[in-house]
Amino acid sequence: MSERLTETPAWRALAEHFAEVRDLPILSLFSDPKRFERFSRRHEDLLVDFSKNRVDSKTLELLLALARQANVEGWRDRMFSGERINGTENRPVLHVALRNRSNRPILVDGKDVMPDVNAVLAKMRAFTDRVRSGAWTGFTGKRITDIVNIGIGGSDLGPVMVTEALRPYWQDGLAVHFVSNVDGTHLAETVKPLNAETTLFIVASKTFTTQETLMNARSARAWLLERLGGDERAVARHFVAVSTAAAEVAKFGIDTENMFPFWDWVGGRYSLWSAIGLSIATVIGMDHFEDLLAGAHAMDEHFRTAPLEENLPVILAVLGVWYSNFFGAQTHAILPYDQYLHRFPAYFQQGDMESNGKRVDRQGRPITDYTTGPIVWGEPGTNGQHAFYQLLHQGTRLVPIDFLAPLQSQNPIGEHHRVLLANCFAQSEALMRGKTEEQARAELVARGMPGERIAELVPHKTFPGNRPSNTILFDKLTPRTLGKLVAMYEHKIFTQGIIWNIFSFDQWGVELGKELAKKIEPELSESAPAASNHDPSTDGLIAHYRTFLAA
Ligand code: F6P
Repeated sequence: MSERLTETPAWRALAEHFAEVRDLPILSLFSDPKRFERFSRRHEDLLVDFSKNRVDSKTLELLLALARQANVEGWRDRMFSGERINGTENRPVLHVALRNRSNRPILVDGKDVMPDVNAVLAKMRAFTDRVRSGAWTGFTGKRITDIVNIGIGGSDLGPVMVTEALRPYWQDGLAVHFVSNVDGTHLAETVKPLNAETTLFIVASKTFTTQETLMNARSARAWLLERLGGDERAVARHFVAVSTAAAEVAKFGIDTENMFPFWDWVGGRYSLWSAIGLSIATVIGMDHFEDLLAGAHAMDEHFRTAPLEENLPVILAVLGVWYSNFFGAQTHAILPYDQYLHRFPAYFQQGDMESNGKRVDRQGRPITDYTTGPIVWGEPGTNGQHAFYQLLHQGTRLVPIDFLAPLQSQNPIGEHHRVLLANCFAQSEALMRGKTEEQARAELVARGMPGERIAELVPHKTFPGNRPSNTILFDKLTPRTLGKLVAMYEHKIFTQGIIWNIFSFDQWGVELGKELAKKIEPELSESAPAASNHDPSTDGLIAHYRTFLAA
């Protein structure tokens, strides 16, 4: 695209339309008795209700025209066919191949990747079956009871989010733990209750060069050997690796027989479907892991084939564009009303912010006249209601929200689930409806409050409302449904990246901090000569630490 996005016909049409509808109350749009049906979509057990948004039929039409103008369909097809759409790294983007349960050939440089994908899945099945049945034992012959996944970013967040979400599917007697932070506390506290004889470490790193992961893996190795008598042969029974870098794995001392490969066309934050999901597959079993893949594949097929008007990821994407770029929303909240999804917002914080946190377009031009990826955040309801919802209801910022909830709880205790759902539905209604001055006044009058006090309180008790949200309901949080939900958000991120004309599959921005940390680390040692290598603030912090060490 040589034309600036904001100068394109579809963008201009949206800008004009925005001026007309910006203050339109969502509630007034429900004068259309069919609005709920018209502004909601179903896919298998998913219901996506987007009727509580500041959009009418024309808005949706214009937003979809923007997606068409950006050639979302063309880019989508290029992704699915294995083209190198990750332009800055010159790689295909093929997490969809990892869950391509149809086995439709997907060619990279003329070679079908599916046989390799299936071979790794078979290797994962053989391994996880052995661990789960007790056939794979630790060095002293005991069966494995605890898996510790050592990884960070995409090599951690996906497995954490999914294993937490699918806890009801864990095998009895087998638990999974995660160590990611280079803060020694994370490793120390995780292994404290574990028995080395029955613990298996999965070192998960796409590059196998990530400082945090290698340091944690080395310390875990030392912890293990110290407890198992120092015999190096124990490592082969207690350490396996997941990586694209066989040479680095061998250098670390893990037998490449015990390595599960994947490929550079899998982005870290899109890798839970690959062997990075080994910890997931071990605790929930390979059948359930394949159900997860099948759910994602069903969503892939929907994204690949459904017209844009019906396409869930595309609809969610364009609504996000509407709020980010026209209403100026800075953030997007993901609020699951399902305790099992408590890491879902954190997972998509990486998924979205690492993908679409970009400041130049695909032509390398600085983006100065529109915003790209929003700040993504969230916590499970109802906890959030008692923490940050005040700002959502009455703050000065507009925060578009996705509410997610299962119709059926995995833990049906008394009336808990009904109360949970009532809260979820009430929040989206309250955000949209607000409370008028008249209503606030009437309530205070009914309480017999003196007129002067009423006048003082009314502004504080008034809610403007008109705050938009989507509500995403599903029958039950099964592996298949989770797969669909995750893939839906992945494709939403993809679609937004295409519309914003950015590359969503690199992450160069995180490199500078890594490089500087490597430079600073030796300077923190007591024996290093004092130097002024940085800005005065950074030098001051280093000196402060060294003074503390010397005291
Ligand atoms: O620092 C960012 C990042 O590169 C993420 O994209 C990635 O998920 C994470 O680091 C971990 O990388 P690796 O799997 O190579 O250890």
